[in-house]
Amino acid sequence: MVAELIKGHEIANTKREQMKMEVEQLSKQGIVPGLVVIILGEDPASQSYVRGKQKACEKVGIDGKLIELPEETPESDLLGLIDQLNNDDSCHGILVQLPLPNHISEKAVIEAISPDKDVDGFHPINIGRMMTGQRAFLPCTPFGIIEMVKAKGIEIGGKHVVIIGRSNIVGKPVGQLFLNENATVTYCHSRTTNMKEMTTQADILVVAVGRADFIGKEFIKPGAIVIDVGVNRKEDGKLTGDVKFEEAMEIASYITPVPKGVGPMTITMLLHNTILSAKWSHQAEGVN
Ligand code: GUN
Repeated sequence: MVAELIKGHEIANTKREQMKMEVEQLSKQGIVPGLVVIILGEDPASQSYVRGKQKACEKVGIDGKLIELPEETPESDLLGLIDQLNNDDSCHGILVQLPLPNHISEKAVIEAISPDKDVDGFHPINIGRMMTGQRAFLPCTPFGIIEMVKAKGIEIGGKHVVIIGRSNIVGKPVGQLFLNENATVTYCHSRTTNMKEMTTQADILVVAVGRADFIGKEFIKPGAIVIDVGVNRKEDGKLTGDVKFEEAMEIASYITPVPKGVGPMTITMLLHNTILSAKWSHQAEGVN
């Protein structure tokens, strides 16, 4: 068997074309979705991520603003800025790029962002709403994974989804979203003792560990769908996932490549959430 690629960049581009038209329609009603991205310090990977977000905003017509602050910015200043943006009607989404410098509490920052502008879907109120199936901003990477699977016409209901990794940003919420789609979900992590036994039962295997080449074909059930969330930089500077791609290609039915797999979907769902936030904030005026 040779797996079919789930080309995230193509699915993302199609979605962004649709979003561009939607933003044009909204602008005719005087609504311009606005996203503010805040970054502290000079970390090259974070700088590159936020530039990608800015560029993507521009392409679909979202008003993307980037606020770059020095690494030593006091926490109180950052919280003050968030408070200001919470009260700014032109700003529909606030994203503070993580990780933050050690002197700033990630929890305090995430909880300071209004749940109504939390387009990352990290605020505990949005997580609670997601868990209880209420209207919520869904975290972008997990949301993007579900959208990619759906875009390929793959039925999720009744499937056994095994997730390797339990981070708050990817592992835990992606399991919840698959559960919301009526899948049966198993989590594996660093303390799981019989991982291979678990992963070889997976109809859909999501790997979000952050270690290059962590999963070989012996962990994959023939015909499984493999979602590789890892983004690891090799010594030669190239990006690679958590899955041994060539091996997995021989045994899986579908697989996401790295790069051009999950990554482009994450930014796309951030754009989606920002547009949604703009619409929700004008719902009283009949915008839907
Ligand atoms: N750092 C890496 N990924 C993300 C993300 O999705 N959102 C934020 N805020 N920071 C990140």
